[in-house]
Order: sequence, then C-alpha cells, then structure tokens
Amino acid sequence: MVIPPEQPLSPQAYAFLANLVYERSRIQLGPDRQALLTGRLGQRLRSLGLAGYEDYCRLLESRQGEEEVGSLIDLVSTNHTHFFRESEHFAILADRVLPRLADRRGASGRPLQIWSAAASSGEEPYTLAIVLAEFARQRPHVTWQVHASDISNRMLARCRLGIYEAEKVAVPDADLRRYFLRGFGEREGFYRVRPELRRHVHVQHVNLFQLEYPVPAGLDVIFCRNVMIYFDQPSRQELLDRLVAMLAPGGVLFMGHAESLIGLRHRLRTVWPSVYLRPE
Ligand SMILES: C[S@@+](CC[C@H](N)C(=O)[O-])C[C@H]1O[C@@H](n2cnc3c(N)ncnc32)[C@H](O)[C@@H]1O
Repeated sequence: MVIPPEQPLSPQAYAFLANLVYERSRIQLGPDRQALLTGRLGQRLRSLGLAGYEDYCRLLESRQGEEEVGSLIDLVSTNHTHFFRESEHFAILADRVLPRLADRRGASGRPLQIWSAAASSGEEPYTLAIVLAEFARQRPHVTWQVHASDISNRMLARCRLGIYEAEKVAVPDADLRRYFLRGFGEREGFYRVRPELRRHVHVQHVNLFQLEYPVPAGLDVIFCRNVMIYFDQPSRQELLDRLVAMLAPGGVLFMGHAESLIGLRHRLRTVWPSVYLRPE
C-alpha cells in the first residue's frame, strides 16, 4: 500500500527526521513544520515505492540511505530567491565596496574573490556576476571570480544550467541584452546566462557546517543571505565566526535584510544595516 501525503507522520518518525536534518544541515524543523514535511515527503515516498514513513526512516539509516539524506534536505529547505533580491546590497557593492577593494588591489593582478554561500538556483551569484562584469567594464585591469555554493544538489544543478523563465529575469534591459541569451523554439520563454558570464561563476556543493570550505581564503566579499534565519543561535555564531575567518581584512559580509548579528559576538563594523566590514 502506498500512503497518501496527508497521512500524519508518527511523532517518533518526525522527531527522527527533524533530528537528522538538524544534524546534517542545522536547519531547524520546529513542531509547526510537520504538515510541510508530510506534504513534501508523501510525493517522495510514492516515487520511492515505500509503504510508509517508518520504511523511509529505515532507508535513511541504512548504508544506501546516504544519498537520500541529501534529497530529504532538498525537500525541507526553502530555496526562494530572485535576481537583484534586496537590491540595495548590489548598489552598495557597486558604489561603495568594489571601488575601495579595487583601489587597494591596484595592479596586483589578483582577482577579486566573491562567495555566494547559499546560492540556491543561481540568481544571487549571477546578479553578483553582472555587477562585477559591469564594474570591470569601467576598470579593465580588474579581474574577478564568483564562487557559488549551496547544500542542495537540485538547486546547484539549476545554478549550473543558468536557464531562467523570462518573467523571472527581472534585470535592467541593458544587462538582459549584454548577459543573457533569449531562447528560441523549445526554449522560447526562457533566458540563459551567456557563457562569458557563466565562466566567471564556479559552482560547487558546500554545506556551511562541513569541516573545511573549498573556496579560497582571504575572500573580498561574502554574500550569506537568507539562510541564517533557518539556524539556531549557537549555529549562527559558529557560522559567523567561520565566515569572518574566510574574509580578508577589509573584506565585506552581506547578510539578509531580515537577519541581524544581534546577540552574536563579533568584531565587524557595520557599513549599512546587514552589511559588515572586517576591520583591517
Ligand atoms: C532562501 S535561500 C537564499 C538564496 C539567496 N542567498 C537569496 O538570498 O536569495 C536559502 C538557501 O540556503 C541553503 N542552505 C540551507 N542550509 C544550508 C547549509 N547548511 N549549507 C549550505 N546551504 C544551505 C538552501 O538549500 C537554500 O538554497
């Protein structure tokens, strides 16, 4: 028998799943998320041909279950994002942060290194790439690279592809012409980020709580937006400490507008609400 999605999870199975998700991703699933999990998992159970949640928990515990843990995290994570989300951040980056960083860098030849640490389906790292490419058009000696990462393999696949529905590509017309290709035929109604821009965006899987980050240390800019809200306070503190350690002195950390460092220990200087500078 295949269960319908509306069948309630037993408290034990829910506790097991919430615990596993927390252990692996630090995403907190409070008691209020039970309905969401039931809805999303019903479909998954059906496609795996499993009879119930208990079987699903057993699969996750088994040796073959490791890959499924990734799918479970995919199912529970919130991936909402869009181009130029919280647009003030990109204006601050272009007008205040990049000129200072580029002046300091001078003609050293070292590329500016920017990390989009919870990149979801790619709209944030490609917005960063557009801002950097525009900046570099004015200052041809500036070279740059964007690192895009996320815990969700499903989102990373979309990020690598760089194809978006036309109505979701809300970018200025000039950027649309310069950085996107319009789809034809089967791809009508979609835009793809041009390869010249995609080449600057290095996409890889990173769990923000894994032991080491495979991005270069001494980063100039980190965008870690709209992900801290899913973590508890000790996890936020741990993550903040690790992100700050990845920044070069004078580097800048961007958090989501709804996120703040209140209650967290740090030595950062506030540049603007939710934008922080690591002192030299
Ligand atoms: C709401 S999206 C934010 C996207 C983008 N930063 C923005 O502000 O538009 C949150 C992303 O964080 C990712 N995420 C959640 N927990 C994570 C973890 N432990 N490590 C890495 N990424 C994580 C999710 O997969 C999701 O894509």
